[in-house]
Amino acid sequence: MDIGCGQGRLPIGILRRLGSLNYLGLDIDKNSIQWCKKYIQNKNASFLFKHLNIHNERYNNEGVKIDNNFKFELESGSFDIVYLYSVFSHTTEHDMKIYLKEISRILNTTGMLFFTTFVENNIPNFTINPKDHHLTISGPLHVVQYEKNYLFSILKDYGFTIQNFSHKTEADGQSAVYLKK
Ligand SMILES: C[S@@+](CC[C@H](N)C(=O)[O-])C[C@H]1O[C@@H](n2cnc3c(N)ncnc32)[C@H](O)[C@@H]1O
Repeated sequence: MDIGCGQGRLPIGILRRLGSLNYLGLDIDKNSIQWCKKYIQNKNASFLFKHLNIHNERYNNEGVKIDNNFKFELESGSFDIVYLYSVFSHTTEHDMKIYLKEISRILNTTGMLFFTTFVENNIPNFTINPKDHHLTISGPLHVVQYEKNYLFSILKDYGFTIQNFSHKTEADGQSAVYLKK
């Protein structure tokens, strides 16, 4: 499951390198989902895409705000891997926590979670668009940054175990977090 699949970077790579598998891509950006359906799903029946009309100040300002009752319309324990590349880097802490709860529910008992966001040591716990950031901030929720120990404590609270962490190895200096349920 690829949450925030955008224009299908991951599924295009999977199809090139691994071939067919069961894949679900979700995104709050309608145009991206339409594009993925037209150019990926239509030719590859096991790759499915679905639009979620969820609010995000950067990507879907007209969407519906989520609360703790939010559920992906998916069965519990039905996924092996959940992947979010460059999504929690543009999501509020409030929304990330709701997603973490739901991701934990839909992953199976040996399920794995991968995501990227901006992570540093010895900074405030959570900052949106920090003033001293190396990127020139452009628009709302451009850079969502966590203090490393604070982020790890949230992940523990939602029942995840950290398997690996790589600092600033990803797009725009984001870090990668690899977790097990
Ligand atoms: C920077 S793009 C990354 C796209 C893709 N993951 C990639 O690596 O190419 C962020 C994507 O996350 C989506 N997004 C943002 N908030 C989301 C949310 N709450 N749920 C699902 N998708 C979200 C955006 O619409 C956008 O397509």
